[in-house]
Amino acid sequence: SMGIQIAPSILTADFARLADEAAAVSNADWLHVDVMDNHFVPNLTLGMPIVESLAKATDLPLDCHLMIEDPDRWAPGYVEAGAASVTFHIEACRAPIRTAREIRSKGARAAMALRPATPIEPYEDLLPELDMILIMTVEPGFGGQKFLDICVPKIRRTRQLLDKHGLDLWIEIDGGVSADTIERCAEAGADVFVAGSAVYAADDPNAMVDNLRTLAEQ
Ligand code: DX5
Ligand code: ZN
Repeated sequence: SMGIQIAPSILTADFARLADEAAAVSNADWLHVDVMDNHFVPNLTLGMPIVESLAKATDLPLDCHLMIEDPDRWAPGYVEAGAASVTFHIEACRAPIRTAREIRSKGARAAMALRPATPIEPYEDLLPELDMILIMTVEPGFGGQKFLDICVPKIRRTRQLLDKHGLDLWIEIDGGVSADTIERCAEAGADVFVAGSAVYAADDPNAMVDNLRTLAEQ
């Protein structure tokens, strides 16, 4: 792959100071932006206007994680708003091939997210349409939840499926990622790591970004 990517999630940041909060993680590779609609998950965050402003306010590529109903309708708009990658949940997506192709044709990376109880195997044929698989390691909706160890075997199976097909997609892990949990995910085959509370609750967020990268690279 193209190496370890650390993607702090601004979900745990101060939403009134997003530009400053992005600047506080300048050592990161991507900035993870959690879009929630109060329907797919029981929480409401932000939408396209804020993504558009944030894209102008930071040099970090925006990794937009759509936890929304009807991502088929909304995903392409997030590319136009400035996202470098757009992730839709397969549980909410009706036309994943069309949606992934639209995201890519507009110039962003396309990713599919799986909730903890959603298996990867039914989607094996979709893999060539995608740039990344996001494996949730908590139920989506909130930061600060405990890492679900039961998701680690799915990371390993996903990497094995990709290898079987000769595909080099990124595998992104999201939820409860910290200095305590990142190594087992990296060992299982993940290479993109979202971390919300672990980074933003740290005294020095940029130092935590570097710390997580070092642990994942081992
Ligand atoms: C949860 C979000 C995550 C969240 C992770 O639904 O998708 O990106 O910010 O937060 P932590 O790292 O605190 O679990
Ligand atoms: Zn997320």
